[in-house]
Amino acid sequence: MKKINYLGKEIAYYESEEGEGLPIVLLHGFCEDSRMWDEWLPKLPSYRTYLLVDLPGFGDSEMLEETSMENMAGAVAAVLEECGIKKCVLVGHSMGGYVGLEFAKKYSEKLAGLCLFHSHPFADAEEKKEARLKAVDFINKNGHILYVRQMIPKLFAYDYSKGYQSEVNRLIYFASKYKPEAIIAALRAMRLRPDNSEVLKNIKCPVQFIIGKDDSAIPYELSMAQAHLPNIADIQILPNVGHMGMFKEPRKTAKKFKEFLKLVIGD
Ligand code: MLT
Repeated sequence: MKKINYLGKEIAYYESEEGEGLPIVLLHGFCEDSRMWDEWLPKLPSYRTYLLVDLPGFGDSEMLEETSMENMAGAVAAVLEECGIKKCVLVGHSMGGYVGLEFAKKYSEKLAGLCLFHSHPFADAEEKKEARLKAVDFINKNGHILYVRQMIPKLFAYDYSKGYQSEVNRLIYFASKYKPEAIIAALRAMRLRPDNSEVLKNIKCPVQFIIGKDDSAIPYELSMAQAHLPNIADIQILPNVGHMGMFKEPRKTAKKFKEFLKLVIGD
């Protein structure tokens, strides 16, 4: 992993060998890091350039003084600047999508396409805000390891996690190494994030939605409520998929994303 300094903290990223055409930026979700793309990345065209960022507080990136989706987007922009990338297609998984939308708000000229992979632009509902605080309490009382051991299997949707034990264990292992303060800061930052529906409404580039029909983290109805917002939308609904389509349906999701790339850059 390479590192840059952003707001006095180290931000880690992986850049593949320089390829052709527009680079693809992959952003992981909450309690994940760039290694979550390990299985999915080889299914994408090898001739492209890929940039995988560890969002602040996760993986090898340090936590920022002030954690917000906006600052996380700033960290991504700083990595792009370092790599000399002027325009990209950005894929954001869940929290990575929240960051992607903040990026779209501030750096729209740098986006050729946005893929919201199990993500959405809406602010937390009151119930969700409450659940975030409960999660913070839980971590403070029981520690973050117990928290991630309970939280991560559920992302795969109730029974699907059973068939994905090694993937689940790997993600839990990575997440157990994060600092509990970083996990808490991300929970608080997601709780306070603004509604970005307008960003999606006004976005100039095509947007792809990859939606898991059985997503327990982002209910299907919520995912569908955003689908009409952008001018150009590619909506992919996956049956029998929870919040982790890149593990549950790696080939199908990669194929859909490659089709989206064709739409975006005629490639
Ligand atoms: C994620 O996977 O990033 C989270 O489920 C997002 C969230 O909690 O809203």
